[in-house]
Amino acid sequence: MKPVIVVHGGAGSIFKEREEGSRSGVRKAALKGYSILKRGGNALDAVEEAVAVMEDDPHFNAGWGSVLNEKGEVEMDAIIMDGKNLASGAVSAVKCIANPIKVARLVMEKTDHMLLTDQGAFAFARAMGFPEVPGEKLITERSLNRWKQNLEADWNPQEFQKDLGTVGAVAIDCAGNVACATSTGGLTNKLIGRVGDTACIGSGGYADNNVGATSTTGHGESIMKVVLARLVLYHMEQGKSPEAAADIALDYMKTRVGGLGGIIVISCSGDWAARFSTKQMAWATVKDDLLQCGVYPGERDEQSAGEALSTMGSYA
Ligand code: GLY
Repeated sequence: MKPVIVVHGGAGSIFKEREEGSRSGVRKAALKGYSILKRGGNALDAVEEAVAVMEDDPHFNAGWGSVLNEKGEVEMDAIIMDGKNLASGAVSAVKCIANPIKVARLVMEKTDHMLLTDQGAFAFARAMGFPEVPGEKLITERSLNRWKQNLEADWNPQEFQKDLGTVGAVAIDCAGNVACATSTGGLTNKLIGRVGDTACIGSGGYADNNVGATSTTGHGESIMKVVLARLVLYHMEQGKSPEAAADIALDYMKTRVGGLGGIIVISCSGDWAARFSTKQMAWATVKDDLLQCGVYPGERDEQSAGEALSTMGSYA
């Protein structure tokens, strides 16, 4: 099986000044994941590392750069899933950790549970050796300004469409295993303790070697109502291509509950799609050593992965 990775940096309206950073961030993440797959690494490692690259990148709403809750704190959700055995691990409303996706992976591998939340997730992360990161270190000027603006204005739920950047990755490895990973700071000015779709299996992501893997982004409450990630795979089970399945699922979410979002998906035969109903979604993929990426509907820039890697040496 030829390895493939697809990543997204969130569906929404990406402000002009953040566009280039988002574009280069998803390209770096895709190249990081692909370099693991190309060396014979597994899909789970590829999606985890790709998402960690975007958690460390302040252009995205995940890890460093996460949006703030009503109290001005970063509270993050993340999920990872292994398509081989349907194992999954997640954290929700976790604070003071740089890479929630890595904690989610250990929830999957080191506990009998699938989701740890808030203080429990933090205590588990500390017990696993993750350093405590002072909350303010995860806060960027952009997220602070956005929080302040929203405090002064009446909070508008449609604001979720602006400048969002939940991150995610799906991959298939040489052995034909698929995996997904998704990580987010959630909605800006959200209530303390709000948990969105990202941490919920079947909503923020799903992976099954029999069908494929998907990671979602967008308005979490809408995504949860239609269980978006599993819905995409259901349509693929009914014979739809990844692209058609993603479009049907996004259309259903829009007409049924008025929600907008985005999806990356990969099938168990290595076909992939990146689709969104928002104005933009930063995405990138590498397949057959070809790096492709886009932000606007219909956009698809291409470059050889080798050429791109030579200018991003640290990801080779
Ligand atoms: N999809 C991210 C969130 O609503 O939390």
